[in-house]
Amino acid sequence: MPERDEWWRNAACYEVYLRSFADSDGDGLGDLPGLRSRLPYLHDLGIDAIWITPFYPSPQVDHGYDVADYRDVDRRFGTLADFDGLLEEAHELGLRVIIDLVPNHTSAQHAHFRAALATGSGSAERQRYHFRPGAGRAGIRPPNNWRSAFGGPAWTRVTGAEGQPAEWYLHLHHPGQPDLNWANPAVGAEFESILRFWLDRGVDGLRIDVAMSLAKDPGFPDLRRGDDQHPYHNRPEVHSIYRRWRTVLDSYPGDRMMIAEAVAPEASELARYVSAGECHQVFNFAWLETRWSAAEFGRVIKGTLESVRAVDASPTWVLASHDAVRTVSRYSAPSRAGEAVGLERARAALLVMLSLPGSAYVFQGEELGLPQVDVPPAARRDPRWFQSGGSMPGRDGSRVPIPWTTGAPSYGFSPAGSSPPWLPQPASWGELSVATQERNPASTLAFYRKALQLRRTRLAGLDDGVVILPSAPGTLVLARDTGFVCALNCGSRPARPPAGELILSSTDWPDSLLPPNSAAWFQLSAPPRPNRGRPAEGHVEPKGGSKAGAHPESQTGRC
Ligand code: GLC
Repeated sequence: MPERDEWWRNAACYEVYLRSFADSDGDGLGDLPGLRSRLPYLHDLGIDAIWITPFYPSPQVDHGYDVADYRDVDRRFGTLADFDGLLEEAHELGLRVIIDLVPNHTSAQHAHFRAALATGSGSAERQRYHFRPGAGRAGIRPPNNWRSAFGGPAWTRVTGAEGQPAEWYLHLHHPGQPDLNWANPAVGAEFESILRFWLDRGVDGLRIDVAMSLAKDPGFPDLRRGDDQHPYHNRPEVHSIYRRWRTVLDSYPGDRMMIAEAVAPEASELARYVSAGECHQVFNFAWLETRWSAAEFGRVIKGTLESVRAVDASPTWVLASHDAVRTVSRYSAPSRAGEAVGLERARAALLVMLSLPGSAYVFQGEELGLPQVDVPPAARRDPRWFQSGGSMPGRDGSRVPIPWTTGAPSYGFSPAGSSPPWLPQPASWGELSVATQERNPASTLAFYRKALQLRRTRLAGLDDGVVILPSAPGTLVLARDTGFVCALNCGSRPARPPAGELILSSTDWPDSLLPPNSAAWFQLSAPPRPNRGRPAEGHVEPKGGSKAGAHPESQTGRC
């Protein structure tokens, strides 16, 4: 039987996009000492763990996701000693620390890639990466039609010793991020040693970047729509890598965990990453792609719970990240509703997310209700903007540095007299700052604190069953085993709330009905009993059935 009380199973995790969180030394970039100084803030927010985006030495072509040395800290972000101090203080405050590991590619400045360039075709150094001859006469065309995620071909041609055009190398992202050849055992051995380096220092978890792409089809076929097996996504070989890593993690004391960043067309494919002996969790991005709709939310929740339960894993929930448009703006845009409505919806969605079993991943600034910023083109820094020739706006708008205080120039992000923040902050940032919101008990920050605190007290220890109760169109009503209920109204009219004690609401109620664009938590006096005549819309049981004596009729609900 798997342990049920591992910390990560039901954790609230906070993503720290390091370069935009807090700058201690005035260079306009967030850093580890800056983050350390804000740990008390994160502790008071009520989260259980932080995930820190890459801080390794890097040319920063993809803001740290291009690693030049996996065993050090970029001087712009601090030192190894700063990392150790941060980890120690986080642990003293009861916070777990997840670091970001980037195994699909290195930086082009990594010593191994530089050695590969310095040697010729077929060398052991080149075997660590994917070097191939080009297609066509004299190899002038890329070896196949694979495209970079940032735009343009996924191949770049190198020059030979005499300066003549020579082989091509693969990069599924920026040309400064050459893909590693995971079919070469030397690559696996190197990463096991990197894992141990950080596990020895005491990290609690690893977030595995682009986890689904490490294995490539050795034939390097063209990508064709409708092929049964993608040449570089979710290939069976990738799973043996995580099985090996799992044995490494399991050899350490404490609940060390890894969470995979993967996307797949089918939830069952994603569930393979969390099947026995592999990763502990996999990010579930389904919600990020879902419009504001009670029916769609219900489908995502039900589908997610069923797929992870089939492999006895714990689910994860994500409403925002450094790669996505911020929730407030996502929920405003489609209906052309203003940002005020977007904020109401974002707060409501948070209550739904926090009412569910599993881990909730919150992105920095979500707790301030920050919107997506329209960064002026001249100030954009995302490689996606440049590599796509401006056809993709890029992700800068969700990465603008956090406002801590009301005053410009940097709203407390950097100390006074510093260089400007690496991305410009809008004039409205001061009103959204931590300092402003701390003075207002009705602020989004106060609401997040309350919700996270109540999640701990009310939901800890519940079994992981969820019942989706019958409810009016446009609404979603979820219940947990003790009669804890979350009701969401995505409709355009006020809705009748469940008859229970109101615990927390995402918005004020002008009358006794639950307003549109809002959600609330209730405590019923007894667990809900879906009516035999009117079966629940959906009902997902905990593995092994419901707790003895709890809502036996709910077995009639459809799964
Ligand atoms: C992941 C990161 C993203 C990065 C990419 C390439 O998707 O979240 O920010 O650009 O990997 O490493």
